[in-house]
Amino acid sequence: MEKMAAVILAAGEGKRMKSQLPKVLHPICGRPMLEHVIEAAKSICSEIIVVVGHKGEEVKNFFADTVFYAEQKEQLGTAHAVMQAKSLLPAKGSVLILCGDTPLLTAETLQGLLQTFKETEAAATILSARVPDPYGYGRIIRDASGNVQKIVEEKDADSKERAVTEINTGTYLFEVNYLRRALSEVNNDNAQREYYLTDCIALILQYGGIVNTHLLSDYRLALGVNDRLQLAEAQQLMQERINRQLMEAGVTLIDPKSTYVDAGVQVSQDTILMPQTFLKGETRIGSGCVIGPNTEITDCRIGDGVVIRHSVATGCIIADKVTVGPYAHLRPETELKTGVKIGDFVEIKKSSLGSGSKVAHLAYIGDAQVGQDVNIGAGAIVVNYDGQNKHQTIIGDEAFIGCNSNLVAPVKIGKGAFVAAGSTIARDVPEGALAIERTQQVNKDGLARRFLEKKAAKNDESRQEKE
Ligand code: UD1
Ligand code: CA
Repeated sequence: MEKMAAVILAAGEGKRMKSQLPKVLHPICGRPMLEHVIEAAKSICSEIIVVVGHKGEEVKNFFADTVFYAEQKEQLGTAHAVMQAKSLLPAKGSVLILCGDTPLLTAETLQGLLQTFKETEAAATILSARVPDPYGYGRIIRDASGNVQKIVEEKDADSKERAVTEINTGTYLFEVNYLRRALSEVNNDNAQREYYLTDCIALILQYGGIVNTHLLSDYRLALGVNDRLQLAEAQQLMQERINRQLMEAGVTLIDPKSTYVDAGVQVSQDTILMPQTFLKGETRIGSGCVIGPNTEITDCRIGDGVVIRHSVATGCIIADKVTVGPYAHLRPETELKTGVKIGDFVEIKKSSLGSGSKVAHLAYIGDAQVGQDVNIGAGAIVVNYDGQNKHQTIIGDEAFIGCNSNLVAPVKIGKGAFVAAGSTIARDVPEGALAIERTQQVNKDGLARRFLEKKAAKNDESRQEKE
């Protein structure tokens, strides 16, 4: 790949979003829309320059040193924005210009644009699209023989120009010297008093450069996000694209419309995603799993043959053949080894469970290191917090933790030890020992029977009174 630069315009305020967050940081399928644009640009460019302005610090914090930045202090228009990147542009060759708010453009589209640009030896190639409703976009104006003449913005267009349905997507390839010359001559003599990048087109034609278009095959990919309605539309289109790729790769989606998978999430073959499943962040899921319904998984690494139903998991490592849920909550730094079973209403935080261990119902495990084949009964609680500090609990292999017991950390339960139900354990239990901590049971002979007889007599009396 030749060293081509891309300039991505992202300095605008995005007023119509009505948001505290800079427009280009609004996420679509889990990633800021600008990140999608950067990813696409990287397919044909090795150097990415982002023009930042409004809330530029936030944008820079997010992308850090993965790209170069140019600053546009005042937002005086798209040509003015490109001008701020002038010193970073190469001395010769071509430059790709994109808007930070067109997140659906694909690598294939940009490759097609580059091909047209090269084959025609153009000074500028515009990525255009034919749309059913061109409102708001710049229109591509052609002469009688079909050659591009100029781009006219909505606000500057006359009624005839407004009727044109071929629009400028805001993505272009320029020969850099033509671009430099045009930028130095663009004025702001228009309805918005802005320096329009689109005016460079007519100027380049005046200089004798070749200008043409590359038509987008699917106009929906040109969608520019200016408000929350378009944000939702972009989200839906991107989700459809991701879901289609998953299905093509051998993943079953029972209901693609209600399955939400972030860009970059990996799912292997023969895994089934049930409705209302959300897979987010850096999640990787193996093959032959069943995930959902109603499940939210964020930043997890999940092995093969895992079943997770009606549950929430964040930042966990889950090995093969683990079953989770319904209604489990797995919190960050939880590691479940092969074949672990986590049942209903179980919460696990920052703990590891060895292979074959079971926490089948109603339990809390926090800051614990649990060995293999351990059985933790219903209602068992690891008391990991003393109000000030968190403490560790260690449970050895094959230990048995009875129902409703409390393990008060820091505490160690030895290998194969047995904690009797209802015990509050605050001292270590040696390997193989039985720990029981309960008060003595007292049985009062006949007391229950007498109680019942009294009750029956009372009922008889009240019935007689009513008669
Ligand atoms: C622009 C194009 C229009 C095209 C449309 C495609 C111009 C004049 N118009 O219109 O032909 O159909 O995109 O979506 O170029 N920006 C800056 N600095 C500025 C102004 C804008 O960085 O001073 C950035 C914005 O953050 C945004 C991009 O440039 O990412 C486009 O700006 P926007 O105001 O959304 O332009 P449109 O009116 O959509
Ligand atoms: Ca726009």
